[in-house]
Amino acid sequence: MTIGKYGKTDRKEGLCHMAFPQSFLDELIARSDIVDVVGSYVQLTRKGANLFGLCPFHSEKTGSFSVSPDKQIYYCFGCKRGGGVVNFIMEEENLPFPDAVRFLAKRAGLEVPEEDGDREAGRRRQRLLDLNRDAARFYYQLLQQPEGQAVQDYLARRRITRRTAVKFGMGASLDAWDVLLTAMTKKGYTKTELLEAGLVVQNRNGGLYDKFRNRLMLPVIDTRGDVVAFGSRVLDKSEPKYMNSSETPVYSKRRVLYGLNLAKKSKRSNIILCEGNLDIVTLHQAGFDNAVASMGTALTVEQTRLLSRFTKELVLCYDNDNAGKIATERALQILNNSEFSVKVLQLPRRLVDGEYVKQDADDFIKFQGPDAFERLLNGSENGTEFRMAQVAGKYDLANDESRIAYCEEISDFLAGLSNAVEREIYTTRAAEAAKITPEAMKLEVQRAFKRRISRERRAELRKDLNPAAQRQPKERTLRYENVRSARAEEGILRLLLLDDSLFPPDPPIQEEQFSSPLLGRAFAALWQARSCGRPVAIATLTGLFSPEEMSHLTSVCQQPESVQNARQALTDYIRIIQTEAAKRSGGVNADPLLAAAEKYKDKKGTGGKQHG
Ligand code: UTP
Ligand code: MN
Repeated sequence: MTIGKYGKTDRKEGLCHMAFPQSFLDELIARSDIVDVVGSYVQLTRKGANLFGLCPFHSEKTGSFSVSPDKQIYYCFGCKRGGGVVNFIMEEENLPFPDAVRFLAKRAGLEVPEEDGDREAGRRRQRLLDLNRDAARFYYQLLQQPEGQAVQDYLARRRITRRTAVKFGMGASLDAWDVLLTAMTKKGYTKTELLEAGLVVQNRNGGLYDKFRNRLMLPVIDTRGDVVAFGSRVLDKSEPKYMNSSETPVYSKRRVLYGLNLAKKSKRSNIILCEGNLDIVTLHQAGFDNAVASMGTALTVEQTRLLSRFTKELVLCYDNDNAGKIATERALQILNNSEFSVKVLQLPRRLVDGEYVKQDADDFIKFQGPDAFERLLNGSENGTEFRMAQVAGKYDLANDESRIAYCEEISDFLAGLSNAVEREIYTTRAAEAAKITPEAMKLEVQRAFKRRISRERRAELRKDLNPAAQRQPKERTLRYENVRSARAEEGILRLLLLDDSLFPPDPPIQEEQFSSPLLGRAFAALWQARSCGRPVAIATLTGLFSPEEMSHLTSVCQQPESVQNARQALTDYIRIIQTEAAKRSGGVNADPLLAAAEKYKDKKGTGGKQHG
C-alpha cells in the first residue's frame, strides 16, 4: 500500500508541497494543542467532551464551531469546515500549508528543517515580490520626472494631491512598449519572472512588451506591506478604463482589498467598502482613511475574513446605479447573520441639466464635500432598512392590489429576521408604508413565520428520510459512488482513529477495495502512520489532503462510533466493503476466466473471498 509521494505538485490551491520531515510535523502537532491554538482566536466554552464557540470562518450568532481535545480536531456544524491544528492556521491566517507549519513552529518554539524544494518555492515568491516592488519604484520615479507629466496632469484634473499620490505609491507607465521590460531586465529579472508577475505580455512571435502603458499606476499592497499587484487607469476616455494584474503566485484578487494596508491603521472604528480604486483615494484624501475597494469584483468570503481582523463594523458604499444595488444585495447576503454590523450608505443621485445622474463616492466628495459625506456616514441605514426599501421600491403603494402584494413579500422578509426586537420595529414600519394597522401587519408576519417553519420542517424531514444523502460531501468531486460501502468505509476510519489496537498487524482491507478514493487514501495514510509507529490522527493528514478533503474527513471522524461493539462493527464493515467491491468489479460471474481463477484460489485457500 503506497500513498502519494510527498513532493507532488498541487492539484488545487491549498494542497501543498510537503517537504517537512514527518517526525518534525508529528512533534509540531503534538506541541500545538488544538484547544490552546484555537482558543487564542475563538472564545471557547466547554460542553461535555467538546468545546464550542462562534465559527471564525463563517458569520454566525450561535456557536456551531466545535473543538475536540481528544481527537485534536475542530469542526463547524454550520459551514462544515474542519481539520487539524495546521488546517486551522491555514484557514485563519490565510496561509498555504508550509507557511502555516512555519507559523505554528514559531509559536511552539521549534526550529523548522527546511528542504530544498520548499526553499526554492519561497525564493521564487520572494523574487516576484521583489520584482513588483522594483516595478512600483520604477513607475513612481517616472511619475516625478518630465516623462510623467501626462499622468501628473491627470492627477491634477482629479484633484489628487502629491501627498496622496505618494501615500498610495502611485506611479506612471509611459506611452512606450518596453520601458519597464528594459529597466527590470537590467536589474537582473528574467523574462520568465516578468511574465509570471504579469508585468509583461508575450506577442504571437514570442516577443515581449510592457503590459501597462500610458497609465496611472496604482500598486496593490497587502496588509503585510508587500506589493502584490497593480491596478491602473487610462488617462483619457479609451478602453479598458481600468486594467489590473492577472492572478499570479503572489496575487489572488479574492483575498486582497485595495487600500486595506492603510485602512487597517485608521482610528475610525468601521471600514467603508467601495467599488473603485479612485473612490478610495479621494476618500482617504478627504479624511476617510478607513475606506477600501474590492476593485470591481463582488465582495468575497475571503475578503470578509480578512476584514474581520480589523473591524466588526462595515459600511457598504457602492455606486447608486443598478450594478451598485446588485453588488450591495450580494454583499449583504454574504454578511447575513454575520458578526459584522453592516450599514448601507446610499449616495444620492445628482441633478445635472434636469436629469439625475449616478454618483460614486469620488463624485460625491468632489461636489458636496467631506462634511456632507460624514453626515451620510452617520445617517446611513442598516442592511434591514436597505432591503426593506428595495422591496418597497418594487410596488406602487398607492394602488390597493399592489399594496397587498407588497404586504405578502415584506411579511415574508420580516418573518426571516431572527431578532425579535428588530422584527417588531420593522413590522411597524412596514405597516406604515402599506398604510395598514401594525396589528394587521403583525398577523401577516406571524402567518409568514408559520409558512417558513413548516417549509423548513418539511426540508428537515426529507433529510431525515435519507440520512445517507444528507451526509454526502458538499464537493461534487468528493461524492460517494456507493453509499452503502462508503458508510462502512467511514466506520473503518473512525475505528482506526478511535483505537487502532482493534486492528490486526496486517491491513484487513486494501485501499483499492474502498469505493471512495478519498476514504481509501485516508485509510492508507493512517495505516502507514500506524505501521511506522507514528500517531494515528486526523491532524497528521493535513499536508496530504486539500482543505475540502480535510473538512470532509473531519466531519466523518467527528460522528459517533460505539466502542462497545467495536470488534463486531469492524467485522461488519469489512464484510460490507468486500461485498460491494466484488459487485463493483462486475462480480466474478461477469468474467468466466476471472471466475475460474477465483475458484482456483478458493480451493487453494489463499484468501478467497465470499461474494454475497
Ligand atoms: P467604474 O467604472 O465605476 O469606475 O469602476 P470609477 O471607479 O468611477 O472610475 P473613475 O472614477 O472613472 O476613474 C469601478 C471599479 O471597477 C474596476 C476598477 O477597480 C474601478 O475602480 N474596473 C472598472 C475594472 O477593474 N475594469 C474596468 O474596465 C472598469
Ligand atoms: Mn468614479
